[in-house]
Amino acid sequence: MTDTSAADVKLRACVIGHPVAHSRSPLIHGYWLKTLGIAGAYARADVAEGDFPNFFRHLRSQGYVGANVTVPHKEAAFRLVDARDDAARAIGAVNTVWYEGDRFVGGNTDAYGFIAHLDATLPRWNETTRRAVVLGAGGAARAVIHALLERGVEIAVVNRTQARAQGLAAHFGQRVSVESFLGLPQRLGRADLVVNTTSLGMMGAPPLDLDLVALKPTAIVYDIVYVPLETEFLRAAKQRGHRIVDGLGMLLHQAVPGFARWFGATPRVTAELRSLVESDIRATTGNA
Ligand code: ATR
Repeated sequence: MTDTSAADVKLRACVIGHPVAHSRSPLIHGYWLKTLGIAGAYARADVAEGDFPNFFRHLRSQGYVGANVTVPHKEAAFRLVDARDDAARAIGAVNTVWYEGDRFVGGNTDAYGFIAHLDATLPRWNETTRRAVVLGAGGAARAVIHALLERGVEIAVVNRTQARAQGLAAHFGQRVSVESFLGLPQRLGRADLVVNTTSLGMMGAPPLDLDLVALKPTAIVYDIVYVPLETEFLRAAKQRGHRIVDGLGMLLHQAVPGFARWFGATPRVTAELRSLVESDIRATTGNA
């Protein structure tokens, strides 16, 4: 089921998903293992939904010190761990697991990845960002909202299915409100940050067609989609002179805490790593 097993390897982790062939986590962790000279391995584990609980609960006896969990298992992982970190509890999903003694612990590093990439790209963003508009109300929106609330930002959520946005506002409390598409231009006029968390703009999906005319010139535009590397939405924002933040950096940064827990060294998101993953995306998707 897994594709890496060297006899001399001491520490092993994996990404569990279904399908999982597209996951770039092995490339990212493999790069860090190699550049940091750590005798470890990071594999892919393609596990169907019915087999997930058994595989997941017996991770350690299969020789793993931990794992990443991806689609469609993040909510099941949340239910199956012994303990959860704050982010996992706020988001309701687990994407990283490790052991603390006998306890099987689940965390969510998406919120960390989102904010760490923003901090790295625009170090002073938080000084001028009071209000954000978040597009979308799925799992990714939960991670983004949790991260922004921790930094004191007020949020308006806009979603095709408004009931889902209302669910998020009820979950996160007063500093998160729901906006309709009708009220969106006015909201954009007051926003310091706009984040796309929907799948619109992703390769194979329709583009995110949002008129940015109402947006303040100083506003930051962040798209968490990373295939293509630069979405139409980001390109349009850049053309209007906005500072933009892309989704690939979030993917790279969200991998840092898991690696540190499993392999005992905190890795860095370098230009070399980024270019390695960019090349892989270009090679496998044929896009720019
Ligand atoms: P994730 O966990 O990655 O956030 P998700 O829970 O499936 O994935 O959420 C996808 C988001 O993209 C949702 O906000 C979804 O809107 P709905 O809640 O109305 O489904 C949004 N989305 C996907 N396709 C869309 C489309 N064609 N038009 C508008 N929004 C879309």
